[in-house]
Amino acid sequence: MAEMKQVTEAGLTGGRAVCPSKASAVKSASQSRKGSFVNILVLGGGGREHALAWALAKSPQCDQLFVAPGNGGTAGLARNIATLDIENGAAVLGFVRDNEVGLVVIGPEAPLVAGVADVLREAGVATFGPDAQGALLEGSKTYSKQFMDNNKIPTARYESFIQEQAALDALEAFGLPVVIKADGLAAGKGVIIAETAEAAQDAVKCCFAGAFGEAGNTVVIEECLTGPECSLLAFVSNGQAFCMEPAQDHKRAFDGDLGPNTGGMGVYTPVPIVSEEELATMKAVMRKAAAATAQPPFSHDYRGVLYGGFMLTPQGPKVLEFNARFGDPETQVILPRLESDLVEVMQAVALGRPDDIGLSWSDEWAVCVVLASEGYPGAYEKGKVILGIDEAEAIPGVTVFHAGTAQNTDGELITAGGRVLNVVALGPSFEAARERAYEACSLINFEGKQYRSDIGKRAAAGRVAWGVEA
Ligand code: AMP
Ligand code: GLY
Repeated sequence: MAEMKQVTEAGLTGGRAVCPSKASAVKSASQSRKGSFVNILVLGGGGREHALAWALAKSPQCDQLFVAPGNGGTAGLARNIATLDIENGAAVLGFVRDNEVGLVVIGPEAPLVAGVADVLREAGVATFGPDAQGALLEGSKTYSKQFMDNNKIPTARYESFIQEQAALDALEAFGLPVVIKADGLAAGKGVIIAETAEAAQDAVKCCFAGAFGEAGNTVVIEECLTGPECSLLAFVSNGQAFCMEPAQDHKRAFDGDLGPNTGGMGVYTPVPIVSEEELATMKAVMRKAAAATAQPPFSHDYRGVLYGGFMLTPQGPKVLEFNARFGDPETQVILPRLESDLVEVMQAVALGRPDDIGLSWSDEWAVCVVLASEGYPGAYEKGKVILGIDEAEAIPGVTVFHAGTAQNTDGELITAGGRVLNVVALGPSFEAARERAYEACSLINFEGKQYRSDIGKRAAAGRVAWGVEA
């Protein structure tokens, strides 16, 4: 408790660089209300979790809000719980009981795969996030591909291997380029697109040699698809899917989609290059997948988000991957457009009451630009003082979600990760949102600030930019 209080107070009392602009939203224990209000625990500490906490805190039904571990941004909205082991179901349950938490929202994949939702639901706690069986759709690419095949969901041709030589022997049949994936969770890094036979062989050998730890004990080889990508996320409960608005992530580090893959350097919504027909196909895929999560070997405990990562190929949309959680940074643009009360939606999902789920969206555009540390996604330094967030948020429609931030002992906001801030702007048009986002980016400063200057540019230019006919 002492530690929780200290972190909350840091958010409230810090100096100019610290003070999260929405610090007034923090509710202290003494201010907490009783009744039908609910104490909520969000697990995770990235930009996605700041956006989740921000949207939950807006609800009149949200009483005390906890984020574990949280970051420098969530400290202004909630109590950060730095020491809770979020992959340990018993520890999370203990915290829930001690703090009368009525809704747990699981942000990242690792606690889902570790079965934290199973432990909580078994104990009767309303939990937003699928059980471990459902999370396997993200936790094992082989499992996910089998699921897609069993349910006739369009995806890249693949084969799965537990022996290096068998994988090497199979490479040739896939042609070039070819995609090599570590089967398990690898923090977005376990996918290699090999342009040459030598690179493909190296990738297979690297996986089996442990470059991705145990995640690479099984290797998936896939045909390489082409086309623009689009993420479609859905709330899923009792086998029903409620699709959110589509969003498009930018995974490469540098302008022009060059450089290494990252966790995501920017995103926007809606996605004008997706045709109505493609969107209808994608939604049908999400509904089909959701329906399958209510059939054996699943139970009815897929209660959370199903994330469909699609590639819009010349043969139509195909699923690259399913994730069992909200996307990061997709969440940072999707939730600001959600007009419905997120607490109500999440409670309906968590309690298996799909009839109570109603989604309404603003018709605004949202653009998010990620400000990263110099060197990311490679090695980077931490501890750089961040200035200018208040000025950026003074621009109409701009909200800054924190990803890798923390507070130093002087109470200053400092960089603490590769992706540091998510600068999000809403606007009545794509151009307006984009202009606001980039103006805000120019007002925020920290040493080594790095960001892409072309988020959404290709979408504005049209479909042809990807070499795919409109
Ligand atoms: P994943 O983690 O499976 O989403 O893969 C990460 C990224 O690798 C995707 O967003 C795509 O850009 C790329 N990728 C994955 N699978 C394929 C594929 N079969 N063909 C082409 N690109 C792919
Ligand atoms: N934006 C990609 C992901 O969340 O996996």
